[in-house]
Amino acid sequence: MENLDQIVIRAQAEFAAISDAAQLEQAKARYLGKTGVITELFKGLGKLPPEEKRTAGAPINQAKQTVEAALEARREALKAAQLELQLAAAALDVTLPGRGNSIGGLHPVTRTLERIEGLFRSIGFEVADGPEIETDWHNFTALNTPEKHPARSMHDTFYIENAPDVLLRTHTSPVQIRYMQAHVARHRDAEVMAPIRIIAPGRVYRVDSDATHSPMFHQVEGLWVGEGVSFADLKGVVADFLRSFFETDELSVRFRPSFFPFTEPSAEIDVAFMSGAMKGRWLEIAGCGMVHPNVLRHGGVDPERYTGFAFGFGPDRLTMLRYGVNDLRLFFDGDLRFLSQFR
Ligand code: DAH
Repeated sequence: MENLDQIVIRAQAEFAAISDAAQLEQAKARYLGKTGVITELFKGLGKLPPEEKRTAGAPINQAKQTVEAALEARREALKAAQLELQLAAAALDVTLPGRGNSIGGLHPVTRTLERIEGLFRSIGFEVADGPEIETDWHNFTALNTPEKHPARSMHDTFYIENAPDVLLRTHTSPVQIRYMQAHVARHRDAEVMAPIRIIAPGRVYRVDSDATHSPMFHQVEGLWVGEGVSFADLKGVVADFLRSFFETDELSVRFRPSFFPFTEPSAEIDVAFMSGAMKGRWLEIAGCGMVHPNVLRHGGVDPERYTGFAFGFGPDRLTMLRYGVNDLRLFFDGDLRFLSQFR
């Protein structure tokens, strides 16, 4: 049979090998619990005559105290190790530089839009807007693009289930209709309608996605309607705007015949820089034309009396040109390494 010293040594070794608090308590039970080895020894004393109890009991008591001390020491050691772990996990390196408050900035496309608005305001244009969730009628039909018109196929967009007449607008041109209707209503009693001079910047949507197309992008619509407004006015306004926008007179502007259902005649506007890295390359940046009589009619404007021009710019494209960015998607990824360069 094991003697007391052996029991104590075994307990000390067992405790020392344990590194889990719950296991340590189980080990304790094996020695000091109700049926523990040492407890059983005490129970054995009961059978002895009283005078022997003391002499036999003293060493057991001694052993019990040694085991309890070993247990307590191990408990403390485990607690300290646990604390050490927690501290390490929550370690704070006070020598690291602080995060500080970084300064935000406007998105490059927002900068472009503000710039465009400022330039057009300076020549008497108002800034208007309209809904991004648009009716089929405003987006297409009122713009002389009836159902089944082939031009609709270039504007594949996102429709809304169970609401066939509603879509995400494919261009800002429906603002032309909305603005004309409101303007005509406001000037119902006037002898001569005050001219309409607006730009309408905003988001538009198409099923399109690559380096130069994004399913959401921006447009800036322009509309000037009044008595005697001509294509010459259109050319002057657009060329002046572009040279101001790019801050250079070294810019060629070309109007290339094209087709849009809502203008007649229609043109595409191209620019070419006469110096710099892009020198001599024609870049398409807008569509434009004289507002089609049907469009004026849908806006409530008498086409026999008034004429107008309209244009639609892609401000994302203008931003790419102005800052020399070659991938449109960078604007919409939200990557601060890119965006913070425009602060
Ligand atoms: N809405 C046309 C588009 O998104 C762009 C456009 C072309 C607008 C000619 C105009 C315009 O106002 O006159 O493709």
